[in-house]
Amino acid sequence: MIKFNNLNQSIPYQLLKNKYDEAVDAGQKGIEAISISSYNKEIDEVDSRYVNLKFINNDEFIFFSNYKSPKAIAFNSHNQIAALIYWSSINIQIRMKAKIKKTSNEFNQKYFFDRSKEKNALAISSNQSKEIDSYNQVKDNYNKSLKNDDLKKCPEYWGGYSFTPYYFEFWEGHESRINKREVFEKIDGVWKQSILQP
Ligand SMILES: Cc1cc2nc3c(=O)[nH]c(=O)nc-3n(C[C@H](O)[C@H](O)[C@H](O)COP(=O)(O)O)c2cc1C
Repeated sequence: MIKFNNLNQSIPYQLLKNKYDEAVDAGQKGIEAISISSYNKEIDEVDSRYVNLKFINNDEFIFFSNYKSPKAIAFNSHNQIAALIYWSSINIQIRMKAKIKKTSNEFNQKYFFDRSKEKNALAISSNQSKEIDSYNQVKDNYNKSLKNDDLKKCPEYWGGYSFTPYYFEFWEGHESRINKREVFEKIDGVWKQSILQP
């Protein structure tokens, strides 16, 4: 589930929340999954991966990850991302574009402190996306961390990312194929609303 705090009053955020509620009511599984596409300028490569969207705080979308992972390196090299949600239960796609940044150390420490020790042991013990000899080694590292590490202290290489979209497209599939596409683009601080052909 995504936690909404003090949600922004503008139309795209309210529309997103309405669609979210509809998808929850329709029994959507994995509703917090969001695809994040990044561009690493140094190696001239685009990549995508799902993460779990944990919060929408006013206009900020927040997820957590490893600050040394390939995605983190890509965000450092180019801070613009594309984000994508698809809720199959209501046949809605939401496309977003945004600039991304890290959340504060204070925010990360507080969030980490409240998580389970199992989740934290994995976050501490994993050099995310680095090669390792075997899956057993992954489990050994995890178990060692569970036993030995301070599981309430967020390591400096782990924390949140926040992005505030400047572009939303809500794509609503219809059986007739007359799909509805509504765009909201923030220009000079004002949301410009438009309709795209399917
Ligand atoms: C549904 C789903 C949710 C995921 N949530 C997260 C997440 O919140 N944070 C994270 O670091 N990785 C998450 N992952 C794993 C990422 O997709 C990815 O494998 C990992 O972050 C490494 O990505 P990178 O090598 O591009 O940095 C999730 C995977 C799936 C399928």
